[in-house]
Amino acid sequence: MENRPQWGTRAGFILAAVGSAVGLGNIWRFPGVAYENGGGAFFFPYLFALLTAGIPILILEFTIGHKYRGSAPLSYFRMRKGAEWIGWWQLAVSFVISTYYAVIIAWAMSYAYFSLSKQWGDDPLSFLVGDYLKVVDAGQVGSIVPGVFLPLVIVWFITLGILFKGVKKGIEVANKIFIPALFILFFVIVVRALTLDGAIDGVNAFFKPDWSQIFNGKVWVAAYGQIFFSLSIAFAIMITYSSYLPKKSDITNNAFITAFANSSFELLAGIGVFAALGFMAMQSGQPIDQVVSKGVILAFAVFPQIINELPAFSAAFGVLFFVSLTLAGLSSLISIVETYVAGVQDKFNVSRTKAVAIGGGLSALISILFATQGGLNFLDSADAFINNYGVALAGLVEVVFIVWVAKELTNLQNHADAISDIRLGSWWVISLKYITPIVLGIMMVMNILTDLKTSYGGYPVMFNVYSGWLVAIGAIVAGFVFAKAKKWDKALYEIPQDKGVSK
Ligand code: PFF
Repeated sequence: MENRPQWGTRAGFILAAVGSAVGLGNIWRFPGVAYENGGGAFFFPYLFALLTAGIPILILEFTIGHKYRGSAPLSYFRMRKGAEWIGWWQLAVSFVISTYYAVIIAWAMSYAYFSLSKQWGDDPLSFLVGDYLKVVDAGQVGSIVPGVFLPLVIVWFITLGILFKGVKKGIEVANKIFIPALFILFFVIVVRALTLDGAIDGVNAFFKPDWSQIFNGKVWVAAYGQIFFSLSIAFAIMITYSSYLPKKSDITNNAFITAFANSSFELLAGIGVFAALGFMAMQSGQPIDQVVSKGVILAFAVFPQIINELPAFSAAFGVLFFVSLTLAGLSSLISIVETYVAGVQDKFNVSRTKAVAIGGGLSALISILFATQGGLNFLDSADAFINNYGVALAGLVEVVFIVWVAKELTNLQNHADAISDIRLGSWWVISLKYITPIVLGIMMVMNILTDLKTSYGGYPVMFNVYSGWLVAIGAIVAGFVFAKAKKWDKALYEIPQDKGVSK
C-alpha cells in the first residue's frame, strides 16, 4: 500500500523545485562570483557546468526519487543495500546548511524592518558587524544576540509550521504563494535599479568579458560550485521532492524547466545587483571594482549603502529587497529541512509531526549557535567547508557510485525516458559517465590543496579545523552511523506501487 504524500499538481512540484533552487545563492552569490571570474567570459564555464553537470544530475535525482519513491537514504537503499550511507551523508550536509541558512534569513527579516527607518545610519558595515551582530573574534562564542534570536524564532516558526502541514497543504501551498510573489517583487527591484543613474555602467561591467580568465582552473571550480549550490543538487533535496511525484509525471522536461527558471532568475539578479552597484559607483565617484562584493557584505552592508543614496522611495526599495531575500531563503530552507524530515520519517517509522518536531526542532536548537556574537565567523567557515567537501564531494561520490559502481545509469535512463516527453540523448550519458567525474575529481584535488596550503578566510588554523574540516568530515561519519543505526522495516524493501493518479 502506498501512503506516501503526493504533490497536488505538476505546477506545484515545479514551483517547489524552483523554490528550492532559487535562494540566497542566486541573489547574493551569483553576481559576485560571475564578476570575479571573468564577467561575460564566465558564461562559458557556467553554461558548460549547467549542461554537463547541473541539468544531467538534476534529471538523475528526479529519476531516483521518482523510481525509488523514498527519502534519499531509502532511495539509495532500494537501489543498492550498501549505498544507504550516501543518502544519510547528504542529509547530514543538509542539516548543517539549514542551521546557518535559517540565521541569514533572520538577518534579512531584521533588515526589512530596519529599512523602514534606515536604522543602519551612515556606516552600514560597522552597523552590521558592531551594532547588529556584535561580532567577537573568531572562535569566541559570546552571548546570544537578541536582535538575531527573535527573528530566528519567527523563521523556524514559519518553516516548521509549513512542514507540519505536509507536502500538498504545506510545502506546495507555500511555494505557490512565495515564488510568484518573489518573482514579482524582484522584477520591480531590477526595473528600479536599471533606471538609476550609472546603472548601465554597472551592467556593462558585469557583462564585460575578461577572456584571460577562461583557462584558469579556479574559474571552472567557481562555475561548478555555483551550479551545484544554485540548483540544490547533491543535497538530497531533489530526490526527496521527486519522491512525492505521482507515477505518471514528466521527469526530463520538469528538470529543464526548473534549471532554466533558476538560471534566468540568477541572470536577472546579476543585472539588478550590478545596476545598483553602477549607481553606487557613480554616486561615490569610485570605479565599479571598488564597490563590488558578494555574500553577507553585499546584502547587508553594500545594499543598505545603496538604499541610503537612493533619490526617492528608498525605504520601499529596502523593504522589497530584504523581503525578496526572505522569501527566496524560506522556500529553500523548507526544502532542505524536508530532506531530513522525510529521512527520519522513513527510517524510524514515525509520523510526520514527530519527524518535524525532532528533526526541525534539533536544527532550530543548533542554529542558536549562529545567533551568538561568534556566529558570523562560524557561519563563514562552516559554509565554505560544507560546500566544498559536503555538496561537491557528495555530488562526485553520488555520480561515481551510480554510474560506475551500481551501474544504474541505463536503468535510470529507461525509467526517465518511459515517462518523459524529452528522451535522454548521449549527452546525458557522456556527461555523467565521463565529464562530471573528471571535472569534479580535478576540482576536489585543487580545493583540498588550496585549503591545506592556506587557512581559509585567514582564520587561525585550529578554528578552521573544528568549525570547517570537522563539520565536513562529521557529516560523512554521520552518514555511516545513521545507516547502521537501525534496520529498515521489511515492508519498506519493496518500491510501493501506487494508483498512478496524475493531475
Ligand atoms: N539553491 C539554494 C540557493 O541558491 O540558495 C541552495 C540552498 C541552500 C538550498 C540552502 C536550500 C538551503 F537550505
